[in-house]
Amino acid sequence: MIEKGVQIKEPKGKLGVLLVGLGAVSTTFIAGVEAIKRGLAAPIGSLAEIGTIRLGKRTEARVPRIRKFVPLAEMDDLVFGAWDPFEDDAYTAAEKAGVLEKDLLRELKPMLEQIRPMRAVFDSRYVKKLDGTYIKQGKTHWDLAQQLTDDILQFQVENQADRLVMIWCGSTEIFLEEGPVHRTLEAFEKGLRASDPGIPSSMIYAYAALKLGIPFANGAPNLTLDVPALRELAQQNQVPICGKDFKTGQTLMKTIIAPGLKARLLGLSGWFSTNILGNRDGEVLDDPGSFKTKEESKLSVLEYILQPQLYPELYKDFYHKVRINYYPPRKDNKEGWDNIDIFGWLGYPMQVKIDFLCRDSILAAPIVLDLVLFLDLAKRSKMYGIQEWLSFYFKSPMTLPELYPEHDLFIQLMKLKNTLRHLKGEEPITHLGLDYYDQ
Ligand SMILES: NC(=O)c1ccc[n+]([C@@H]2O[C@H](COP(=O)([O-])OP(=O)(O)OC[C@H]3O[C@@H](n4cnc5c(N)ncnc54)[C@H](O)[C@@H]3O)[C@@H](O)[C@H]2O)c1
Repeated sequence: MIEKGVQIKEPKGKLGVLLVGLGAVSTTFIAGVEAIKRGLAAPIGSLAEIGTIRLGKRTEARVPRIRKFVPLAEMDDLVFGAWDPFEDDAYTAAEKAGVLEKDLLRELKPMLEQIRPMRAVFDSRYVKKLDGTYIKQGKTHWDLAQQLTDDILQFQVENQADRLVMIWCGSTEIFLEEGPVHRTLEAFEKGLRASDPGIPSSMIYAYAALKLGIPFANGAPNLTLDVPALRELAQQNQVPICGKDFKTGQTLMKTIIAPGLKARLLGLSGWFSTNILGNRDGEVLDDPGSFKTKEESKLSVLEYILQPQLYPELYKDFYHKVRINYYPPRKDNKEGWDNIDIFGWLGYPMQVKIDFLCRDSILAAPIVLDLVLFLDLAKRSKMYGIQEWLSFYFKSPMTLPELYPEHDLFIQLMKLKNTLRHLKGEEPITHLGLDYYDQ
């Protein structure tokens, strides 16, 4: 529920950013924010920082920056905390991730070195390729959740943070499905006490955050928030939540290209996507359990965008295949190939080939920044539960169970901006435009 023109609390004081996982994405995000604060770089890719929003009619020429339109926390007010099952500080972790140039990292070293991870809630049953040892010991999942709560409260005091946001930037867990332990908050809390194997580490973090009223975003394709028990907790404690799986790389391209093909009613007979990447994420995804979680997240996109049930002659039986191959020499610099077999007028076939030499974490870091700033805005605006307007950032956007997710990037952007207009009491923009011609 979002009230139109609601009173938004001003973002005073520090905003604590709690990152689960201090790997490639997290360190690229933190180092990026620090570099931008020092004037060494620009926040390219961040809608919150450099995006604009049109207000009113085209003739009014009112197009402020989003940051000037809604009250967002300043980058200077962000403070960072993280958990990881490896003890490396943010400088060492960033060096190992190999995303950013050594010269830039050296310049930021004094700051990055100070960010040391807290011991993680980690269980290698859910992430089979990692054997991290910097982990919490607890008799039950419940104990572990309490230890996370203590970490959070201590972080808040030490950093004098006024507000907090938590983002899952940890590894992809194995594929899990909703079971009885997830159905209600009561069953879930019982499950925590009994260390039910249906509750993976990511859910313990999410539980600790929501219990304290801290907004949570899920950057991985894990089940995490997608269960009734945690949605219930978010509703009960009035906490904004969103997910899942940051939309970067190949899926970003898919949600740019597919709406265009559909708009022009070009048919699709097959879409083959393959990737090579060599970062730790790629290594984790080399495990079939973790890959299945990712695959599910990547596959659904085309079905929803193309709507084969409405356009059977164009999209009924298209073949969709997604492959991820771990290839260490490429590190974080992924290469994604797409071969798209389409057909046009009279069924004549055509092909589109995409070779995207992308940088995974460079695409993900501004998403993390925007989610931090917008989730904090949501919380101050009394918005809670699933934040569908943040679908723009995710491969598998969360929705209420009875709704299908919106995957089209352009509809997602319109939804996001209309939500901001609504929040500030401005009219949504429908692009109807008839009124210009009525006069
Ligand atoms: N980079 C992208 O473009 C992108 C896009 C979509 C989703 N993602 C997802 O974001 C996540 C992070 O990606 P990355 O490239 O930074 O991966 P990464 O492997 O470099 O970093 C993940 C970190 O999480 C840590 N971790 C694992 N389990 C943990 C736990 N239980 N508690 C705390 N820390 C834990 C790992 O030790 C590792 O340091 C992955 O799940 C990935 O699938 C990334």
